[in-house]
Amino acid sequence: MKKLLAISGSPRRMGNTELLLEEVIRAAKEAGVEAHKLVVHELNISPCNSCGRCRETGECVIADEMQGVYQKLLEADYIVVASPLYFMGISAQLKALIDRCQALWARHYVLGQPLRNSNGHPKGLFLSTAAMEKGDGAFRGAISTVKALFHVLDVEYKGELLFCGLEEKGEVKKHPEFMEKAYKAARHLIEN
Ligand SMILES: Cc1cc2nc3c(=O)[nH]c(=O)nc-3n(C[C@H](O)[C@H](O)[C@H](O)COP(=O)(O)O)c2cc1C
Repeated sequence: MKKLLAISGSPRRMGNTELLLEEVIRAAKEAGVEAHKLVVHELNISPCNSCGRCRETGECVIADEMQGVYQKLLEADYIVVASPLYFMGISAQLKALIDRCQALWARHYVLGQPLRNSNGHPKGLFLSTAAMEKGDGAFRGAISTVKALFHVLDVEYKGELLFCGLEEKGEVKKHPEFMEKAYKAARHLIEN
């Protein structure tokens, strides 16, 4: 069974970002894909401290819950990374997770080790929400960060889902068209 990893970078539980990500998960399940949600805010993930040990071993020395996340990142067939826009970037919680992937970068690009045994080519999407009414350009920094993550993970970046005008918690429920867009994009990711 194929696996989808849905990474929720919002600290606001069942806020706009996570509700949209739930539509992605629903689509995956309906397409026969096993879906697993990571709520980054609820994991104990320290930021990278740039100790450089991963350049020697390909492993991160920080013993926290990121150690379980590495395996999940590497065994997923699909990864959907979701974050609210915070000061034109992704949330700090998600950024910490991404920075800790420096160990995978070192494993691959410094030590020349393959990240996966299989020949599978995972695919990924980025989903983001923002309060501003318009202006996809504001997401540029966040998109670049997620593209860099996917590059390091050797995950094919299949695009972004950007939702504006969402300020209050759960406001996205007033926009069934947004929910539908997230659902359809996930089905498209899996079926194409
Ligand atoms: C710390 C913080 C920073 C934010 N920065 C921005 C921003 O730069 N641009 C923007 O349009 N919205 C910004 N917002 C609003 C959120 O991106 C928006 O309300 C989003 O839908 C929240 O998603 P959530 O319900 O999943 O938490 C910010 C919110 C917070 C709490």
